[in-house]
Amino acid sequence: MKKAVFEDFDRYADIRREIEYSRKFGVNYTRERSMPEQFIHRLHPDRLRLRVSEIREETPSARTFRLIPEHSPLPPFLAGQYISLSVQTGGIVTSRPYSIASPPNQAGFWEITVQRVASGLVSNYLLDQVRPGDLLQSSGPCGHFYFNPLFHDPDMVLIAGGAGVTPFMSMIREITQCGLDRRIHLFYGNRTLQAALFHAELTALAARFENIRYVPVIEDPSPEYQGRNGLITKELIKETLGTMAERTFYVCGPQGLYDFCIPELERLGVQRRKIRTEVYGPPVEVSQCPGWPPQISPDQVFSMNINDRESIPARAGQPMLTSLEKAGVTLKALCRSGECSMCRVRVVSGKVFQPPGVAVRRSDRQFGYVHSCMSYPLEDLKIEL
Ligand code: FES
Repeated sequence: MKKAVFEDFDRYADIRREIEYSRKFGVNYTRERSMPEQFIHRLHPDRLRLRVSEIREETPSARTFRLIPEHSPLPPFLAGQYISLSVQTGGIVTSRPYSIASPPNQAGFWEITVQRVASGLVSNYLLDQVRPGDLLQSSGPCGHFYFNPLFHDPDMVLIAGGAGVTPFMSMIREITQCGLDRRIHLFYGNRTLQAALFHAELTALAARFENIRYVPVIEDPSPEYQGRNGLITKELIKETLGTMAERTFYVCGPQGLYDFCIPELERLGVQRRKIRTEVYGPPVEVSQCPGWPPQISPDQVFSMNINDRESIPARAGQPMLTSLEKAGVTLKALCRSGECSMCRVRVVSGKVFQPPGVAVRRSDRQFGYVHSCMSYPLEDLKIEL
């Protein structure tokens, strides 16, 4: 048979495979609009069973997992949102949020990219033990870190560090694959070029699409590296962008990136409402946070009484949610960053520390509720679940 001309196109086989996934596992939700209950459940499923169909190595310490639905079709999502994976490892049931890196137009699968964290319970489990064919449990898509055409400028400045580039991959892939009218300026910081995820894909997309600009910034480059080095400074941002007007800034990465880049943007006159930040989990060392009482050692262990029944040990330097999980008490938790409110508990007595910037609703504060994922015991506690 004669070879079809498209078979010579770049990524022809990949694209065919992606279309097949979408045909097999994707769904057209518009037909279900007349059946509200079914429609809502499909859009916001409580739990999903996902099968790992493929694992790709991105860098020596990061892999992409392609996940396909086991029973029900995948709900739609917005580029930039995350899912919360629940796993059982190290004798506990716990969860971690991972941004979806594949674009929403690929309806038949999701991809997440997992970067190894030195003592990361879940990242090490996923990278070392999960294989193609395994089943994982996930939440539906969640989070507020996405482009909203009503409020955000179509000129998008993305500032990423390390694995923080993953939600931006979903945005960039959607824009390029669907031909959306948005402009991207991506500043992507890494210690070395080898650690930069998706570097080849981003370089190729920037060369091919006029509306994609990619600026890798390497902190510790090799002598032959020709690109930008150092940090993502206000000088670099100013020189690259010229004006800051009519642009929305998105920041995602490790805590150090927020601590450095947000003040840099503010020095350039960017208003805080123009800067959108992705949630980034509990601080690495909570005792280094402003306001931590110096007389409390993070290794001090207090007692946490639950519902006036059992008491469990709770280390000061560990989020209450982790202490509960270690004691076999599993709470619903999506973001683990104080954003989704799913892990709320009521503190009946005792003092807790909440790092600066953790938002708690006024009514929650009034009735003693805290987000257990971002609260640390400072004395013996009594809590209600
Ligand atoms: S898990 Fe989202 S607020 Fe705690």
